[in-house]
Amino acid sequence: MLRTGVSTVDLGKVRNKLLPMSNSQDFCFIRSMDFPDGEILPRSQIRISPDDRGFYFADGVYEVMRTYSGKIFRQSEHLKRFEKSLSAVRINVPDIERIGPICEEFLHLNNLQGKDVFFYIQATRGVWQRSLVFPPAGVIPTLYISVTEIVAPVAEQENGIRAITVEDIRWQRCDIKAIGLLPSVLARNQATEAGAEEAIFVRNGLLTEGTHTNLFAVKDGVVFTHPLNNYILPGITRTVVLELCNFIGLEVNEEAIELGRLGEFDELFVTSTTYEVVPVVVVNGQKIRDGKPGEITRRLQGAFRDYIARG
Ligand code: PDD
Repeated sequence: MLRTGVSTVDLGKVRNKLLPMSNSQDFCFIRSMDFPDGEILPRSQIRISPDDRGFYFADGVYEVMRTYSGKIFRQSEHLKRFEKSLSAVRINVPDIERIGPICEEFLHLNNLQGKDVFFYIQATRGVWQRSLVFPPAGVIPTLYISVTEIVAPVAEQENGIRAITVEDIRWQRCDIKAIGLLPSVLARNQATEAGAEEAIFVRNGLLTEGTHTNLFAVKDGVVFTHPLNNYILPGITRTVVLELCNFIGLEVNEEAIELGRLGEFDELFVTSTTYEVVPVVVVNGQKIRDGKPGEITRRLQGAFRDYIARG
């Protein structure tokens, strides 16, 4: 038993509750002060120091990429975005080109060949005393990679989800995939408490993106989405959907949607690596049109599936 200031916690019970969430035998990659050469180890053998700057400051960035039938989707775009995030926050991970082969190796080690999985890739500025000043050269950034099988969000894709809008209290560099996600955690849970599945951020009266998704709207057959700038993540799925719009001849307008004009739109949907294309049918308790997934959204879902099937 551990006696903390406010409560008594039975660590045995806490541990048992956590174990089913992740298989402690999963193989993960770790390179850090404790594993300077980089090792693939069962999750249960990985140790992260409490002095890791990711723990103290969320001083790190991450990336999420996936496979379809065992093949990594848009790998070079994901790794380029990871490199961009790293260089924007001045963390030096020298051998980005090792990440792809490590992920491939995981598929074998974890018996996931041919499956749909996502890779979580995180780098922090490493282990050093708690100081805002950068650690000296020579401190190894921590690099951690894990793999998880994807449970396809079939119900969400079929029926659509409900969303709420919340003030975008995130920082001014949402184009960086930073691990500090407190505003997103708070917003996503506000959505749950309101009986919704996603929260859409609003900055200066304009809808930016979801907590883990990019946002699209459709009006009179034209597809709208926020332009690429520092207020949204340049989603890889966003790029694919824009390519598909072009392919099937849909007009696109990269212009942010005003919250006050949301009622004028016929359809709304969100995109992400694991969600792909998911209709949004209710916002703040109000239906979008008839509250059913729209026709253009359905066409894009179909085009997305065909595109994946073509390999
Ligand atoms: N989230 N916007 C935000 C804020 C995101 O966190 C994500 C991705 C996206 C969509 O990007 P992409 O299409 O490249 O997945 C947009 C990932 C999946 C996550 O944090 O789990």
